[in-house]
Amino acid sequence: MKILVVGGAGYIGSHAVRRLVADGNDVVVLDSLFTGHKEAVDPKAKFYQIDLLDTEAVAEVLKKEEIEAVMHFAAYSLVGESVKKPLKYYKNNVSGMISLLEAMEETGVKYLVFSSSAATYGIPEKLPITEETPLNPINPYGETKMMMEKIMHWADKANGIKSIALRYFNVAGASLDGSIGEDHHPETHLIPNIMKAALAGAGNFTIFGDDYNTKDGTNVRDYVHVVDLIDAHVLALKHLMETNQSDVFNLGTANGFSNLEILKAAIKVTGVDIPYTMGPRRGGDPDSLVADSSKARKVLGWSPKYENVDDIIASAWNWHQKHPNGFSK
Ligand code: UFG
Repeated sequence: MKILVVGGAGYIGSHAVRRLVADGNDVVVLDSLFTGHKEAVDPKAKFYQIDLLDTEAVAEVLKKEEIEAVMHFAAYSLVGESVKKPLKYYKNNVSGMISLLEAMEETGVKYLVFSSSAATYGIPEKLPITEETPLNPINPYGETKMMMEKIMHWADKANGIKSIALRYFNVAGASLDGSIGEDHHPETHLIPNIMKAALAGAGNFTIFGDDYNTKDGTNVRDYVHVVDLIDAHVLALKHLMETNQSDVFNLGTANGFSNLEILKAAIKVTGVDIPYTMGPRRGGDPDSLVADSSKARKVLGWSPKYENVDDIIASAWNWHQKHPNGFSK
C-alpha cells in the first residue's frame, strides 16, 4: 500500500516508517524537520521536506505519489511549552490538521490514522481512563489534540474522510536494534531524562514532586513501548479500511508506575546508581494517568508485547548508550 507518514522524521513517526517499510509498503514521508531528524527516516522511504501548513504542496505529494492512506504524527507536543506559547500550538497543530484534511479532500484520500493523546482527558475523575471518559484538557497541547479529533469527526461527516484517533499514554523505548529512538530538544520526558542522568553519572535529574495522591507521592503513568504503539497503528489502519468507520482507541498497557518506581527500575536495568534530587511539582501534572486499553485489545486485536517496564527501559537504554548525543554527530 502507498502510505504517507506526516511527521515521519519524529520520534514516533520514524518508528512507524520503519515498520511500514518492513511490512512491504511504499512509504512516503513528509516532515518540516522543525523538530524531526532526517537521519531517523528509513532510507527506503521517499522523503519530502514540507511544512504541513502548505496545503498545496501536501496535496501535490498526495496526488503525485498516489497515496491511499495517511498516518499523522506531526504536532508540537511539549505540554509546558504549550502553556507558554499557546498560539504556536494552535497554529501548528490545529491548522496543520485542517491543512492535511483539505489536501486529502482535494485529492480524494479517504483514510487517516492520527496520534492523539491522553492529554485530551485532563484530570480524570476515575481510573482507569476509558474512551468514554469525558475530554477535559488542562493545557493548550491537550486541547489542540481534542480540537484535531473534533475536526476529523466533522470532516468524516461532511467529506467522508474516515479516521482513527489513537490516544497515547506515555510512549517510551526505542527500536530494538537501538538505531532510532527519542531525541527531543529540549528533552522533558521522564525516561530519556533518567537515561541521560545514567550516562552522565551526575546529579542532574530531578523528580518533580513527591506530595501527590499516589502510592509513594510521585506521579503515576502508564508506559507503552513505541514498538507496541506502532503495532496498534498498523492494526488500526487495517481495521479502518475494512470497516470504513471512524473510531478512537486508548493506547496504554493499563499498568501504572510511579516516577520513583521508574527510577528504581532504571537503576536495576542500567546498573548505574542514578543520582537524583526530589524537587517541587512541575505544574499541570495530574496525579495518575492509567489507560483502560481493552477496546484496542478487543476490537483491533492489539496485544502489547512489552508490558514489563524493565523491557521498555532496557530498549531506551540501548538507544541512549549507542547515541549519547542523539542524532547529532
Ligand atoms: N518527570 C520528572 N522529571 C523529569 C521529567 C518528568 O519527575 O525530568 C515526571 C513528570 O513530572 C511526570 C512524569 O515524570 O510526573 C512523566 O512526565 P513526562 O514529561 O515524561 O510525560 P507526561 O506524563 O507529562 O506526558 C506524556 C506525553 C504527553 C501525553 C501524556 C499522556 O508527553 O504528550 O504523556 O499521559 F499527553
